[in-house]
This record gives sequence, C-alpha cells and structure tokens, in this order.
Amino acid sequence: MENSQREAYVRQAQSIVETRSSPTLNAAVAELQRGIGGLLGATPPLRRDLSDGAILIGTPASSRVIAGIGLKLDGLGSDGFLIRSVNLSGNRVTVIAANDEVGVLYGTFAFLRQLQTHRLAETLNIRDVPASRLRMLDHWDNLDRTVERGYSGFSLWDWQKLPRWRDPRYTDYARANASIGINATVLTNVNADAQVLTPLYLAKVAALADVFRPYGIRVFLTARFSAPLELGGLKTADPVDPKVRAWWRAKSDEIYRIIPDFGGFLVKANSEGQPGPQDYARTHADGANMLAEALQPHGGTVIWRAFVYAAKPGEDRAKQAFDEFRPLDGSFRPNVMLQVKNGPIDFQPREPFHPLFGAMPRTPVVLEAQITKEYLGFATHLAFLGTMWEEVLKADTCRPKCGTPVADTIAGMAGVSNVGTDRNWTGSQFDQANWYAFGRLAWDHGLPAREAAEEWVRMTWGNDPKVVEPIVGMMMGSRQAVVNYMTPLGLHHLMATGHHYGPGPWVNNLERADWNPTYFHKAAKDGIGFDRTKSGSDAVAQYSPRVAGCFSNRRCVPDDYLLWFHHVGWDERMRSGRSLWGELAFRYDDGVSRVQEMRRTWRALQGEIDAERFNEVDAFLGIQEAEARWWRDASLAYFSNVSGRQLPEGVQPPA
Ligand code: GCU
Repeated sequence: MENSQREAYVRQAQSIVETRSSPTLNAAVAELQRGIGGLLGATPPLRRDLSDGAILIGTPASSRVIAGIGLKLDGLGSDGFLIRSVNLSGNRVTVIAANDEVGVLYGTFAFLRQLQTHRLAETLNIRDVPASRLRMLDHWDNLDRTVERGYSGFSLWDWQKLPRWRDPRYTDYARANASIGINATVLTNVNADAQVLTPLYLAKVAALADVFRPYGIRVFLTARFSAPLELGGLKTADPVDPKVRAWWRAKSDEIYRIIPDFGGFLVKANSEGQPGPQDYARTHADGANMLAEALQPHGGTVIWRAFVYAAKPGEDRAKQAFDEFRPLDGSFRPNVMLQVKNGPIDFQPREPFHPLFGAMPRTPVVLEAQITKEYLGFATHLAFLGTMWEEVLKADTCRPKCGTPVADTIAGMAGVSNVGTDRNWTGSQFDQANWYAFGRLAWDHGLPAREAAEEWVRMTWGNDPKVVEPIVGMMMGSRQAVVNYMTPLGLHHLMATGHHYGPGPWVNNLERADWNPTYFHKAAKDGIGFDRTKSGSDAVAQYSPRVAGCFSNRRCVPDDYLLWFHHVGWDERMRSGRSLWGELAFRYDDGVSRVQEMRRTWRALQGEIDAERFNEVDAFLGIQEAEARWWRDASLAYFSNVSGRQLPEGVQPPA
C-alpha cells in the first residue's frame, strides 16, 4: 500500500468507540483492532468518547449517540447494517450501526473488507441487507470425525474432547463464517447418526453453540427419522403415532433446555436408504410436520431435503423430487423449509436449475449447493464455483412469470461445507474461495461471481493488479474447464463408481440402473444424450411452459444443456458448424487446454507469491492437468469406440 493511502486510512481508524459491552459487540471490537492493527500497523484503542477519526459501533439500544443521529435503520432487519461517515461535534466519525448487534458485526467485517481490498472510500455511505434470512453451512461430518465427501482432513468437531475442551479453531471457524454472513451451521451428516441426539452429545453440541453464539451462528443437527426406535425403544417411528410425536416433543424440549437458540433439524428421509415417513405409508409432509410441531413452541425450524430418488425401473431419476414434492406445496407447517439441490440430479459440474424452484410458492425453499467438490476433482482441481452459483441464481424460472430468477424464489441458501482439519481449512488454497463465495452469494444473490472472486483474491493473494487480474481470470474460467474435460455439452454423472473421482463413462454393471453412467449418457451407434423431451422421459415438462419450450427445442436449448435434454446424432451440426462428435472432441480437448493455460498463468506469478503457497498451487495444477488429460483421453476413447468415429484432427489421440 502506498504511504499516502495508508496515512489516509489510519486517519479514518484512530479509535473505536463502543458504549456497551456484550459478547457480540466485543467480538466486533476485537475484529476491528486485530484487522486494522494487522493491515495498517497501528491498533486503534478502545475509547468511550468520540474524537476525530473514531469508529463508532453499536445499535440504538447500545449507544445513545447512534439512537440520536437520525440514521434510517428501518428496513435493515436484524442482520443489515449501515456504514456512514458523519460529522459529530466537529469530529469526522465512521458509524457502523444496525438494529441488532449481529448486524454491527457484519458491518464491521464489511468495513474491514473495504480496507483490506484497498477500496475504503473517504466518505462512506454503505447500506447492506442480506437477500435471505438463512445462510447455512451443512457439514457432512460423522461422529467418528470422518467427513462424507470431505477432502480436507477430518471433522473440525472433536467430539471426544468436547464439551470441556473448546478448540480455538471453533472460534476462528465462527469468525470466518460471520465475516461472510453465514448464520447457521448443521454440524452433522445428512446420513444421520441418532447418537448425536443423546444427552452425552447434546452437551458437546451446546459447547459449540456457546462458541458460535456471539458470531450470530445458530446450530442445527440432522435428525435421523428412526431415532425413536433407536434411542427411545419405541416400536415404530410412524409420524402419526402419538408415542412417536410425544418422543420428538420431549426430545425438542430437552434440546432447548440446554441450547435455547437451537436452530432445528435438517432431515434426509427416504433417500438413498435413509429412514423416513414413507416407510409407514405417510408423506414427506406428514414427517416434516410432526417434527415441526415439536420444534414450533421453541421457534425451531425443520429443513426437509428434496433430494430423493428411489430405484424405479424405467423412471427418469431427474423427475422424482418434483413428482413427490410439488403436490405437497401448501401442506407444510409454517416452520418447515424445503431444501432443494441446485439441479435435479446431484451436484454435477453443470446442471440446469432444479424445476422445483418457483414451483413451490407456498413453501419456503432453500437452495442447496455443494461447496465440497465431490464431482469436480476433489481438492486438487482448481474450480471456482462462484460462477456455477451465479448461473443458477440468475436462471429464469418463468414462474409465476418470466423475469423471476431462482434468486427471487428462495428463502435461503445451504452449502455442503468443504471445511476440515487441514491447515488451509479446505484442502487447497483455492477451495477457500468457494467457502468465501458461497457466503457472499448467500448474502447477496446478485453479487457477480467475478466480484466475489476479486474480493477473495485481493484479501488472499494481494491487491497488486499484477496478481489480481491473472488470478481472477484463472478462477472465472476454471469451472468451465472442468465441465469441458469431464462432462461437456450437458453430459452428466460419468464419474467412476462410488468415489466419483476420475472417468467411468463405460460403467454399466451397477446394482441400480440409475447409478450407471451409461444410463445418463445413453451413447450408442446412433448418437448420445438423454432425451428428456416429450419423445423421451418428458422431464422437461416439469419446467414452466416457456422454459420447457426452450429446453425442448434444439434451436433454443443452450449447448451447455444439449445432451441433458436431447439425444443427438453424432453427425448432426452444432452452432459452431462442427458435427456433434467434432464438438465433443473439441470441448474435451479445450478443457485440457484451459488447464494448461491456468498453469502458464500461475507460473508467471512466481516471485509475486510466497513460495509455499505458490508451490502447492503449482503442484496441484500439475495434478489437474494430468487428470484432465486422463478424463479427455479415456472419455474420447470410449465414445469413439461406441460411435465408431475417429478422433478429429487436432485432438490428441489417447496415450
Ligand atoms: C450425493 C453424495 C452422497 C450424499 C448425497 C446427499 O449422492 O454422493 O454422499 O449423501 O448426495 O446429498 O444426501
């Protein structure tokens, strides 16, 4: 930072004024002192009185000055905030104000972000309110500390040492989350273990909730639907059974006695072998409402997942969630939310938006994204997912009318966390950007992914344009690179069995048809792709007529979704002028080229970045390139065999 800029910033951060101490306001002061001290080299002292260059933080209840200067706080809700430069008795003061203390904390982090990205204006006038009330991380963490689809070590939650030992990382986890606006965390795997609902574990959960509380983060747990059998000794978990209802009510009462602000339950039911209400011929609504009734007196919420698919021979798996849940719209209790994955299959590198968005107007819907990269090369492949989430948030549902993007149909966002015990938290340097961008987009659904990337780059690698521009460029193209070398043109679910790492488009022998990649790509002599139009599974009819009309129409459907919705002949012409086969080969090869380009860009940054992180990223990009080639070569060899077509000129033959 230039000296003159540093001096100007120091003049704006001379002291901090907080007139009432509380855990949340104290956390805000600590962040300001640590952040400003670290960034500017001068830690502002905490004062009671205002002077020139002071930062005044608080709510109308905590500060008489804030109550008295006529700030317009209405409309900010509990989480929104204002940052304003004002003149108070001749002193230039920065006010960070909100209705609730947690809003002050969010404002504090926003102020620090401006400072750290070198964008702090001399006169500040910022007003920010989150787009959604629920901004949640879902941990798929097991009680033995393994993490389902986790690629960054073990679970942060050290159940054995809790509740007495509160690892300082819990506080850092809360700070990091609060800095990007996350306000809820589900501690346990959706494939749930009922043990977490026992008194032994609830005491541990309560300790975590205590650490997170000052940072505005509420704790949720996954509830195993069969817990009344496993823990309560009951003979059934039927949601209409009075004993079952009484068991859940008593369990909720017990939880709220020790965690008064407990968020509620996240439930995966009747999906992939999990127990649920359908085991008793009841509906998802019967199950969700039973739990909602138990939580309701305490203000808790049931978040019910719509990720369901059963082995129904002949049925298109993409259709099931819509078929099961759409008829239930309007039958859920008010404290139930429905959590819907971004697309109708399962966190693929690219999917069209889920048809349930906009189709459940009487149910609060939560958009579930996967931050951990189960289908995108785990931790070693660089794939910035901000662009994926921007794409889904912007997708026009045309429900109830066109011009209604997914962002306008949701009441919250949940991200399957990529956090673990690794020293870098997320398995790689660049996977931190996905945690960051998820929080920022959950707060502001309209934030361009590029902006989230740039903020993160400035705060992680530096503000020098020599660093910012190339790294942002790499990130912005990275997800498309993965799409191209794994599943171009709307192909999906071609990953190897079980672990989902590496190619397996030839796999055709799994127990269930809808687990086989061949089920999804349907490559044969005549062509490739899943016909989901009227002549096929007609899944497209689940979208609004306008959207369905476009996806059904070969002239309208974007190339990116072509083989998701259509079975296309190998020699048919594409928009590019190439044949489909030529285009497929081109895209696979292009995916590899993009990774090579990222490697070159990164290499050119040597010397601009500390050696440790430089070398790690460099090595990971090397792994990514080798595996991009593996994906391309294996996939093209297989498809060339099926189609009986030679690799086009210019595309590398498989090694
Ligand atoms: C995917 C993933 C599972 C996970 C499931 C879910 O299928 O592979 O590990 O349990 O999603 O979201 O419930």
